[in-house]
Amino acid sequence: MARVAIVTGGTRGIGEAISVGLKNAGYKVAANYAGNDERAKAFTERTGIAAYKWDVADFDACQAGVARVVADLGPVDIVVNNAGITRDGTMRKMSRGGWDEVLDTNLGGCFNMCKAVWEGMLERSFGRVVNIGSINGQAGQYGQVNYAAAKSGIHGFTKALAQEGAAKGITVNAIAPGYIDTDMVAAVPPNVLEKIVAKIPVGRLGKAEEIARGVLFLVADDAGFVTGSTMSINGGQHMY
Ligand code: CAA
Repeated sequence: MARVAIVTGGTRGIGEAISVGLKNAGYKVAANYAGNDERAKAFTERTGIAAYKWDVADFDACQAGVARVVADLGPVDIVVNNAGITRDGTMRKMSRGGWDEVLDTNLGGCFNMCKAVWEGMLERSFGRVVNIGSINGQAGQYGQVNYAAAKSGIHGFTKALAQEGAAKGITVNAIAPGYIDTDMVAAVPPNVLEKIVAKIPVGRLGKAEEIARGVLFLVADDAGFVTGSTMSINGGQHMY
């Protein structure tokens, strides 16, 4: 039986590449998204992967969303917590709302989704959780105290939950992408982005598929000895 995977934020950017990578590798995939119906519809038409709408920042919505996926595809074996937003701004300009939104979605979303699948994974003695962190959670970034705190939190969350899952067949790992060619990175002012790219030893932005490659490794049945780790995929920008 093919394993069932949920990818949050799975219809666009890095999430889309992960959803498609998993489907091509034979997994049954549910791609979650929060808002952009048009892009989600186009994604499903293009890939044949069903898209499920709910907000990962909403605890009850995650419970209901996971229940829908279970009813359609079966028990969930794999969760990729990829959904994330930015509300960049220096401390002087950042609002409390911009802090809360990023923490609730990027970090709260990991908690909400893990809570919704954890008991089932324990019952079946198998699970793979992959949390998408960030180079900016490892190194910090000017204008991103909210995003860096949330992503750094994801790295701590990963190491803590990995300890709880280790003896139960559940692995919990993180990937820390660098700057990847997505809409999110395209929103960085061009003059700022140019300076960032100049500091990437590989000399270019990453591709979403290069993150999906790491996810496929971590979710495999034979990756059971890899847990609590952070895989940096950043073109050498931060060696950590
Ligand atoms: N280090 C030191 N100083 C910096 C700086 C840096 N990295 N970046 C900007 N500054 C300085 C500027 O030189 C400027 O100084 P002066 O006023 O003395 O000239 C001052 O800070 C204000 O800079 P801006 O004019 O850029 O200010 P702003 O308010 O218009 O924008 C900002 C600030 C929103 C942080 C903008 O610089 C920005 O978007 N930076 C990029 C942030 C970033 O990397 N986001 C990543 C998004 S993608 C992502 O998050 C995915 C992932 O996981 C990697």
